[in-house]
Amino acid sequence: MLHPLEQLRNDALREIEAAPDEKALDAVRVRYLGKSGSVSAWGEQMKTLAKEEKPVIGKLLNEVRNAVTAAIETRGEQFRSQKESGALAKLDISLPGTPHEIGGLHPLTQMLERSIQIFRRMGFALADGPDIETEWHCFDALNTPPDHPARNEQDTFYLADGRLLRTHTSTVQIHAMQAAPPPIRVIAPGAAYRRDEVDATHNAQFHQIEGLYVDENVSVADLKGSLEFFMRELFGPDTAVQFRPHYFPFTEPSLEIYVKSKALKRGEQWIEVAGSGMVHPAVFEAVNKARGDDAYDPEKWTGYAFGLGMDRLAMILFDIPDIRLFAQNDLRFLRQFA
Ligand code: DAH
Repeated sequence: MLHPLEQLRNDALREIEAAPDEKALDAVRVRYLGKSGSVSAWGEQMKTLAKEEKPVIGKLLNEVRNAVTAAIETRGEQFRSQKESGALAKLDISLPGTPHEIGGLHPLTQMLERSIQIFRRMGFALADGPDIETEWHCFDALNTPPDHPARNEQDTFYLADGRLLRTHTSTVQIHAMQAAPPPIRVIAPGAAYRRDEVDATHNAQFHQIEGLYVDENVSVADLKGSLEFFMRELFGPDTAVQFRPHYFPFTEPSLEIYVKSKALKRGEQWIEVAGSGMVHPAVFEAVNKARGDDAYDPEKWTGYAFGLGMDRLAMILFDIPDIRLFAQNDLRFLRQFA
């Protein structure tokens, strides 16, 4: 005959084996091992047993408790591994992974990096200034009078506080000279903004590289030599470069720069790529006034300056027909340069 404790163990083991899920198993556990469960109740009963019975039943009770505990543990383990393999069964390891898109540099960035490299070799350092500017930096200091058309609200984006989006990077000439006495040799790449009618060659935002070189005895010959070198490095040794007289308020004389090269798709035609000139003495005077000294004495120092149209240069070099493509973020366009 089985001892009631052995009967209890057998019942428990059967129920554990039959438990369909973790919840049912836990109910079995509570029923037998819980505070008021059957196994625990036997523990209470021990107190009432005769002295000689105690070790025998105590030992049996321990065995029963251990057996039930171990069986619950084993069954629980079964449920957990079933769950895991269920999840694995749903995992399709033959599915392709998430692809990593390989990016590329924007054509304007490529153009910019090439240009900077060339000017670096000629000893130019990088300078910069803010896109949101004072009227003084954009116009007054650059010898541009109040009635000049560029200052018109039709041509320039003004902010409510009277500041504006710079219409050219020439503003950085002023910042650079305010910050340091001559000699100075800097380029300043950046965006510029105009309220132009947007078309294939005009956008409200475009990009320039400004250049400024001030030293003793800087002449038009230096300007021509440096910019010819730049254009030939960029467009190839057969590039013809032409300097045509022009007018800018902040240079005297002023020159527009044209290039022509058989290596380019546009072949035989002269293309305007930059404005340039010798820094106007009035610009030096405006800077001196702002600095409160005579560092840029126009009797002692001369300089040349230039502004290259980056979008234009990139359009020529990469044969891009429309300036608006640069800002449309169309991958079919961008991938051609990556
Ligand atoms: N700032 C002029 C423009 O945007 C270009 C330019 C002309 C820059 C002559 C210069 C310069 O530095 O000397 O049209």
